[in-house]
Amino acid sequence: MSTINKCLFPAAGYGTRFLPATKAMPKEMLPIVTKPLIQYGVEEAMEAGINGMAIVTGRGKRALEDHFDISYELEHQIAGSDKEGLLEGTRRIMNRCSFSYTRQVEMKGLGHAILMGRALVGQEPFAVILADDYCVNPGESVLTQMVGLYEQHQCSIVAIEEVPHAETYRYGVIDGVEESPGIFRLHDMVEKPQPEDAPSNLAIIGRYILTPDIFEIIEQTPPGKNGEMQITDALLTQAKEGRVIGYKFKGRRFDCGSVEGYIDATNYTYQLQS
Ligand code: UTP
Repeated sequence: MSTINKCLFPAAGYGTRFLPATKAMPKEMLPIVTKPLIQYGVEEAMEAGINGMAIVTGRGKRALEDHFDISYELEHQIAGSDKEGLLEGTRRIMNRCSFSYTRQVEMKGLGHAILMGRALVGQEPFAVILADDYCVNPGESVLTQMVGLYEQHQCSIVAIEEVPHAETYRYGVIDGVEESPGIFRLHDMVEKPQPEDAPSNLAIIGRYILTPDIFEIIEQTPPGKNGEMQITDALLTQAKEGRVIGYKFKGRRFDCGSVEGYIDATNYTYQLQS
């Protein structure tokens, strides 16, 4: 039994980089070969021992709810055929997990999307997965590694990776002390800094474990970069108190929020399967 019972999936963004594909379909439903991004995320959470999935959706995102539901007509149609097995993965998820949903009515940033999940998550530590960051590892999944680390440290944890200096403007970037190999105690973080202002080239990617006091902190944190409520700004408050760890995870991340990363992930996965 994991100490983390719930995983929040902020999935309300517009996904404008994938227009027109995302005009009427959520970005999180884009498939890597035949499985949608959101399902990879849910499977990663399940592997980490979590079975409460909390999804923050928005307008035009109903397909996310339908995906984790029974489709009687379709299932009746393929029952007894060789296609039946193709739905086994979603069946297994539905048998083991519970799903709850809420809507972010206005896109006010990732911090705001996480705040909207408060009613679903309650007053307990929780995981966050951004499904458009697709993470793979032949051993333990990235979130499993992070849950293990949470059990030791009992504070917020962010997954980090080295990025090219020139690309820091795309990420939250950390500054901290490496307490043991790959484990940093953070004391500063900056949202989307230009390379010359970046405190390092260690970027936060879409996996977090957050302690529940983060909700109040988000509420009290004024909007930051681009007028959005940034999770990085809220985490900075915890970091100043020495309560955030940056973890250089084992594995590989594909930025499936960008077309290039999405194509790379598709090629990688297809080659693994064939
Ligand atoms: P992104 O900025 O990468 O996603 O947000 P986006 O806005 O959907 O994509 P583009 O830039 O228009 O192509 C990172 C994650 O945070 C969620 C997004 O759904 C995505 O998973 N998010 C972001 C929200 O849920 N709400 C927000 O207000 C902002």
